[in-house]
Amino acid sequence: MPDYKIRGTAPLRGSVLVQGAKNSVLPMLAACLLCSEKVQLSGVPQLSDVSNSLRIIEKLGCRVRRGVHTLEVDTQAVCYSTLTAEDCRKMRSSVLFLGPLLGRTGRAELYCPGGCVLGPRPIDLHIEALCKMGAEIEVTDERISAVCPDGLQGSEITLRYPSVGATENILMAACLAKGRTVLYNSAVEPEIGELIALLRAMGAFIEVGGGRVCIEGSERLHGCHRTVGADRIVAFTLMAAALVTDGEITLCNCPVQALQAPLRVLGDIGADISLCGEGLRIRRGTKIYPVNVSSAPYPGFPTDAGALLLTILSLASGRSRYEETVFSDRFAIAEQLRRLGADIEVKNNCAVINGVPQLCGGTVRATDLRAGAALIVAALGAQGESTVCGGEHILRGYEDIVGVFRSLGAEITEIN
Ligand code: UD1
Repeated sequence: MPDYKIRGTAPLRGSVLVQGAKNSVLPMLAACLLCSEKVQLSGVPQLSDVSNSLRIIEKLGCRVRRGVHTLEVDTQAVCYSTLTAEDCRKMRSSVLFLGPLLGRTGRAELYCPGGCVLGPRPIDLHIEALCKMGAEIEVTDERISAVCPDGLQGSEITLRYPSVGATENILMAACLAKGRTVLYNSAVEPEIGELIALLRAMGAFIEVGGGRVCIEGSERLHGCHRTVGADRIVAFTLMAAALVTDGEITLCNCPVQALQAPLRVLGDIGADISLCGEGLRIRRGTKIYPVNVSSAPYPGFPTDAGALLLTILSLASGRSRYEETVFSDRFAIAEQLRRLGADIEVKNNCAVINGVPQLCGGTVRATDLRAGAALIVAALGAQGESTVCGGEHILRGYEDIVGVFRSLGAEITEIN
């Protein structure tokens, strides 16, 4: 697995195309199981999480044809309903196969999902909702065994918390359930919108509005073609890199609408942001102003951008505060940033960041995907040489991060 060697402070300049979104494509791949025809996807990023999902899909009996950024998934021959422990532990999104498998085959055998360690990540909301739809599910410390001998039934479901994953599982299961499912307090992240667009293209009847999502179950769905939208967190990563290196980057196909809250925060920080013909251009203003920010479900500030924001604020001219409200243990990044000279104090779910004039090179370890990206960005803005270890986390969500940053003038190499 790679580590990265980075010599920092070269101002990053140039234009870059934002890759397709990991958090969109993973539920889309699970949704392919809902029909028994071919689903074609474009704009698919080359990520280890995508390869792992495809491995799962192939083991279930599907055929996959993969181009550079395209996929054709033929789910006609799905004949298994069991995922292996190893496949499930590689990523959180393995749990997204639960709803589609129940809908398609009437049963699902999974192991508890892995993924980034951000504190406890229960799946009670997924399980409760699917049980309400008629599934019988047994969950042990390790395994999830689900059956629905009479098929899934449409139901009225109110989520206690707008969980992204639970919303996705319910949406997919409801498409093949008998009757109407009405879902209240669902997540409204842009990636949910992308999943709904795919399901509609597959023939599903889904209405969104009035604070609820209504899904009219169908007997079968059909094949289709969709393009995966650009990744808002990767876009934010590139913007963070422009700011900490005092460079100027233009993001082509930037998902501006999906980035309203992060762009507001970057505006408060004093970033100079403008829309130009090609896309969104960003550079540092006169200085980085301190800010107070809390993460929240969409349309709030995304928890996945928290580690990157901490990195930017490490170089602010004053004291900032960042509160993490979605996951309980997302501040392992603080210890790593301190090794690069940042002044960050964490108390419970709050980080207080006293800006320093300069970060300095060091050896740090990615503890999860977004923390890994934040450390690469921090190292790009730090004086001297840094080594960022734990590249396996970064490969899960960033396609060719070395090539992308090099094309903008960064001194970064992959070492094994
Ligand atoms: C997804 C994203 C992840 C992002 C997160 C929040 C994918 C693969 N992952 O994760 O990158 O950080 O959304 O935007 O798309 N919860 C429960 N019970 C449940 C489910 C969730 O209590 O059954 C809680 C979680 O512990 C957490 C909160 O709800 O505190 C949000 O979790 P959720 O929205 O489900 O995130 P994920 O789908 O895991």
